[in-house]
Amino acid sequence: MRVLGIETSCDETGVAVYDTGAGLLAHALHSQIDVHARFGGVVPELASRDHVRKLAPMLRGVLRSCDNRLSDIQGIAYTAGPGLVGALLAGAAFAHGLAHSLTVPVLGVHHMEGHLLAPRLETDAPEPPFVALLVSGGHTLLVAVDAVGDYRILGETLDDAAGEAFDKTAKLLGLEYPGGPRISELARNGNASRFRFPRPMTNRPGLDFSFSGLKTFTRTTFQAQDGDSSLRADIAAGFEAAICDTLAIKCRRAMAATGMRRLVVAGGVSANTRLRATFNQLGEQLDITVYYPRPQFCTDNGAMIAYAGALRLAAGQEDGSAIRVYPRWDIDSLPPNITR
Ligand code: KG4
Ligand code: ZN
Repeated sequence: MRVLGIETSCDETGVAVYDTGAGLLAHALHSQIDVHARFGGVVPELASRDHVRKLAPMLRGVLRSCDNRLSDIQGIAYTAGPGLVGALLAGAAFAHGLAHSLTVPVLGVHHMEGHLLAPRLETDAPEPPFVALLVSGGHTLLVAVDAVGDYRILGETLDDAAGEAFDKTAKLLGLEYPGGPRISELARNGNASRFRFPRPMTNRPGLDFSFSGLKTFTRTTFQAQDGDSSLRADIAAGFEAAICDTLAIKCRRAMAATGMRRLVVAGGVSANTRLRATFNQLGEQLDITVYYPRPQFCTDNGAMIAYAGALRLAAGQEDGSAIRVYPRWDIDSLPPNITR
C-alpha cells in the first residue's frame, strides 16, 4: 500500500510517501525556524499559516521526486495530535480534502507513535518487544512496546520535557531558538564537570522525570558567576551531561524492570551527540542493542507519519469523514491491532 504522510503538529512541515512493499519513496521537510526565530519561540498562528502555504507545493515536489502521480496514492496519514491545534488542523484539513477527492482512506496518526517507529525506517529495524525513550520538545516518555501499536507507559516527565529543558536553558544563556542544537554546539567546548548539575529524581525509585530544576540551577549558576569567557559553554556542557545521565539512569532501570534487550531512543533530543555517546555506552554496559532514527528523522518529519500511518491503514484502520485533531492525546490509548 502506498501512503502519503503529512506532519504539521508544530513548526515543521513534513510530507512523505511510504510504500509497505518498497519502503520510503520520497520525503520533504520545511522548517519554520526563520518564521519564529525573531520571536524566540513558536508563534502558533504563524505556524498554522505557514503549513497552509507550504503543503500543496511540497506535495507536488515529493510526488515529482519519486515519479509518482496523485492517482498512485492509496491512503493518506496525517498527524492528528498531540500538537498545536491550529497547526494540526492545517494538516488534517489538507489530508481529508485530498483523501475525499481521491476516494482513498485517511487516518489521523499519533505524533509520538511516529517518533517511536522512526528507527524502523532504517535497515536494522528494532523488533518488539523493546523499550522506547521518547525525548522531544513536548514529551519525555518511557514506553514498553509489547507489539507495534501496543504501548505501556513506564514513566514520563512531571514538568518540562527534555527538549523543552534544552530550549528554556538556551534562552537563559541568551542563545537563539531552537535551543537544543545551540546548547549542543556550545557544550562541545565546555567543561561538563565545572558545575555539578543535579540528576533529578534519580535518588529515589521510579521511572518518572523532572527537568524544571535544571533550568533553575542554570539561572542561579549563571547569575552567581562573573561571566568569564568559558562560563556559558561550561554551563551548557554541565546541563547536557545532567540530562543525558538522568535519561540513561532511568533507562537502565527500565531495562531491568522489563527484562527487554532492545532500546529505542527517538524524538528531537535523540539527535544530540552526547546523548548518543551516553546511550551507546549504556548499550555496551548492559549488552543490549540501542536503536536511533537517522539524525534527520529524530526531529519532526513526514516519513515517520507516513510509516506509522501505512501500518495502520494497511491493517484496515481509517477515520470517518469528520476532521478530528487531538492537541492532547495519550499514546497508550491507541488501538493496538497492527498486523505487522
Ligand atoms: O521531536 P521534535 O522535533 O518536536 C517535538 O515533537 O517536540 O523535538 C524538538 C526538540 C526541541 O526541543 C529541540 O531543541 C530538541 O528537540 N533538539 C535537540 C537537538 N536537536 C533538536 N536537543 C538537543 N540536542 C540536539 N542536537
Ligand atoms: Zn516531534
